[in-house]
Amino acid sequence: MQTLRDLPALRAAIDALRRDGKPIALVPTMGALHDGHMALVDEAKRHGRHVVVSIFVNPRQFGPNEDLDAYPRREAKDAQLLQAAGVALLWAPSVDVMYPAGFATNISVSGISEGLDGAARPGHFDGVATVVTKLFNQVRPDVAIFGEKDYQQLAVIRRFVADLDLPIEIIGMPTQRAEDGLALSSRNAYLSADERKAALALPRALGEAKRQMERGEPVDAALAQAVATLAGHGFGPIDYVTLCDAATLEPIHVLDRPARLLGAAKLGTTRLIDNIAVDPA
Ligand code: PAJ
Repeated sequence: MQTLRDLPALRAAIDALRRDGKPIALVPTMGALHDGHMALVDEAKRHGRHVVVSIFVNPRQFGPNEDLDAYPRREAKDAQLLQAAGVALLWAPSVDVMYPAGFATNISVSGISEGLDGAARPGHFDGVATVVTKLFNQVRPDVAIFGEKDYQQLAVIRRFVADLDLPIEIIGMPTQRAEDGLALSSRNAYLSADERKAALALPRALGEAKRQMERGEPVDAALAQAVATLAGHGFGPIDYVTLCDAATLEPIHVLDRPARLLGAAKLGTTRLIDNIAVDPA
């Protein structure tokens, strides 16, 4: 596996990979890799694709009071995992390579990026859309793989790929969970032992609300109960627990179409998110 940090070297390496005609799959990440990321890598490897993984902790998607400086960075260990998984190329640019002096462009996706995490984290999805567009232009993949763990992010990416006619197939992968059900996340590393136990309340509250809604109980009552459960386990502030149309992410109050239940809340200083499909009978 080659690790590349500048654009001329990346372009040459991608040109070389392209020569055998096999498709290229890109897995964008911010590193501190776990089994959730590695499931995306496994999917990328299917159909004999060349796999390119990027590691870039993108300053533009972090708010001024968020965890940019604290975000876990362990590139050497990540590189070992990727090498063992058969990845062809690790793209790990510096901030100066990604955003040279004078950088002035922003990709902003209206509508679908405005609610939920877009409301709780102003500017976050502009930062994601801008960096992912750049990664697509740098690597020129045929396929790119993203996790449903970040469900709104996946929807925003599908939106601008369609809107900008980018010739890239977007594949979404189911959320990978620890044995007890907590969604794997690089940010779980911030949790104390007690918080790690309390964190389970998030998937459990979403699962319980899903069962209530699918039994036909009122959506808003189920949401309120989930919020109360989270508060009772020490979560707060709770940014949202919302049922949305699975495709548009518009909030809905009656389960009359395929839906997604999404939640985001802080536990101590750690912000956790999760989501789950909810389907009408
Ligand atoms: P990061 O949080 O490192 O996640 C990289 C990819 O792994 C994303 O597509 C995310 O949805 C996926 N992922 C994370 N945890 C997962 C889990 N438990 N199961 C399945 N997939 C999981 O998301 C980002 O980085 C950044 O916003 C990025 C897209 C790289 C742009 O900077």
